[in-house]
Amino acid sequence: MQQQIDYVKSKGPIKDGPKNALILGASTGFGLASRITAAYGSGAKTIGVFFERPSEPDRLGTAGWYNTAGFHAAAKRDGLYAKSINGDAFSDEVKRQVIDLIKADLKQVDLVVYSLASPRRTHPRTGAVHKSCLKPTGTKTYVSKTVDTDNSVIVPVAIEPATEQEITDTVAVMGGEDWEMWIEALNAAGVLAPGATTIAYDYIGPEVTWDVYHHGTIGRAKIHLRQTAKRLDAQLKAHGYGRALISVNKALVTQASSAIPVVPLYISSLYKIMKAKGIHEGTIEQIQRLFATQLYNGNSVNFDSEGRARIDDWEMRPDVQEEVKKIWPQITTENLRTITDYDSYETEFLKLFGFGLPGIDYDADVEPHVTLE
Ligand code: NAI
Repeated sequence: MQQQIDYVKSKGPIKDGPKNALILGASTGFGLASRITAAYGSGAKTIGVFFERPSEPDRLGTAGWYNTAGFHAAAKRDGLYAKSINGDAFSDEVKRQVIDLIKADLKQVDLVVYSLASPRRTHPRTGAVHKSCLKPTGTKTYVSKTVDTDNSVIVPVAIEPATEQEITDTVAVMGGEDWEMWIEALNAAGVLAPGATTIAYDYIGPEVTWDVYHHGTIGRAKIHLRQTAKRLDAQLKAHGYGRALISVNKALVTQASSAIPVVPLYISSLYKIMKAKGIHEGTIEQIQRLFATQLYNGNSVNFDSEGRARIDDWEMRPDVQEEVKKIWPQITTENLRTITDYDSYETEFLKLFGFGLPGIDYDADVEPHVTLE
């Protein structure tokens, strides 16, 4: 947490940035980086929403709980407003709680970041439980290789195509329906500031992952997310309000991405290549760059042909992708740590849970129960 805060501060203020930000999915990954960038780049008051297990006396909470406790403590120290709601963002109840909190404390929000990544969603209207899956669509089984991260060995992977129901379910979880419900609810309650920005995160990635990602079930959900962005953008503009955007981000180690077959091995290769070229970034570098060079600071969004902001531009550089293609067929268990940067993948993964940080005595007794101040 402190490393991310220090990074944003080191880059200087982001002018004309958000003043009151609502971050959905604020406890880890890109959402956490968005919260830190809004708060420490632009001095924004932030409300964070997430789904984490809180700590209890003698019982550990999940990593995102401690991330948020760390953020709250830092924000308090630095005189920044920070409140959080831990609950199911897909539910009407949490939407109501957030609206009440905005009305009571902030009156309106001018930035809504939609950064949820979830394995399931209970639909607030039908009560149906939709489960997302990571599978190819179409008729062909996806065959590739991946790294078994428990044993650090390369293993083959074969994934059968999704059924129509699985595609529908994945779109229901990771598509744009809930994002739209949020914006409608905030708008109807009058808590969306004129000129507000809302943004959701997308991924495209390299051809080696396309069959399971870009053209897979999650890719279908992302198409729905993009269509939703266009609709929301038109609605917000028609009301004289702001803009709804999609940003395509870089592949990075997060709890969500580690669950995707093939992606950990691709990330290990990518890190090696991007570090050698001096263009490697983590979530905080990505989001700070997005806010500082595209969303705010007097800059405008550098839209691609489909109207999306791109901060995966360095990942997708032809020279980077050529090298990925070159080393991909050569990767074996024996050379995993030399031709890819699997060591960094492991380090980054452990760091998500607070492990492997210098200066920490991991043998010391600690009180696991931490409250959000
Ligand atoms: P993450 O796993 O680090 O974070 C997910 C967040 O969603 C957490 O704060 C979690 O508490 C919250 N959440 C999950 N279910 C919830 C629920 N029911 N109610 C409230 N909060 C809930 O995920 P990550 O990787 O940061 O993903 C965020 C977005 O960024 C996703 O749309 C993902 O597709 C996208 N993205 C991720 C990339 C990556 O490589 N990690 C690359 C490009 C885009």
